[in-house]
Amino acid sequence: MTPIGIMSAMHEELAAVLQALPDEQRVQVAGRDFWQGHWHGRPVVAVLSRIGKVAAATTATALIERFGVGQIVFTGVAGGLGSGVKVGDVVLAHGFVQHDMDASPLFPKHEVPLYGRSRFETDVDLSASLRDAARAVLAQVADHVGPEAVSEFDLQSVRLHEGLIASGDRFVSTTAECRSLQQALPEALAVEMEGAAVAQVCADYGVPFAALRTISDRADDDAHADFSRFIRAVASRYSVAMLSQWLKNP
Ligand code: ADE
Repeated sequence: MTPIGIMSAMHEELAAVLQALPDEQRVQVAGRDFWQGHWHGRPVVAVLSRIGKVAAATTATALIERFGVGQIVFTGVAGGLGSGVKVGDVVLAHGFVQHDMDASPLFPKHEVPLYGRSRFETDVDLSASLRDAARAVLAQVADHVGPEAVSEFDLQSVRLHEGLIASGDRFVSTTAECRSLQQALPEALAVEMEGAAVAQVCADYGVPFAALRTISDRADDDAHADFSRFIRAVASRYSVAMLSQWLKNP
């Protein structure tokens, strides 16, 4: 069976994923630890994406070239940009754009040179099966994060959003930068630092790709507030629950 690539943005997520694999074996490539094993009987290769577009592109390329994965699923956190995209919500990516790509006047702003486009879409079928898993987890949030986290992070009415995610090599943590991103890319729901790179690598190789991002902050002046605690208490639990649910019911 062709293995599934699982890229986690955060150590906490990867640690939780590894706990779910009964038989993981570590293989080092390009200074990264890749974990080969089985989850619900399905062969997977789990790896930390690393941070930023170039690092994530190298990780994705190694997953494809060295481990032969047939699809890649990415989980992590993101800053909310769209109105109504709140901390604790989840965004299922329909596509990605690099918000910091600008080779104008040679190419239109955001267009990736020589690709003739600025957007890289995710795989429709893979995303549809992840959607079901994400919905099932968000319908029972307290079961996955516990009632204390639900009240601490105000997770009573979390939502699943779907649409465009913007990626760039910056942690967006000022209200001014958040506003300028909202103006430049009004349809972007969230911002993070890797997805567009992985989407581009997957497009290059024809490998289906899907991504789920939990909103950890609003990419504004408060963006750093409870970041680490939120990742531990909420985001990494969502990710593992969604991946587990998805692998159980492909
Ligand atoms: N990942 C989580 N929050 C983010 C933000 N505000 N900017 C970039 N990447 C993020």
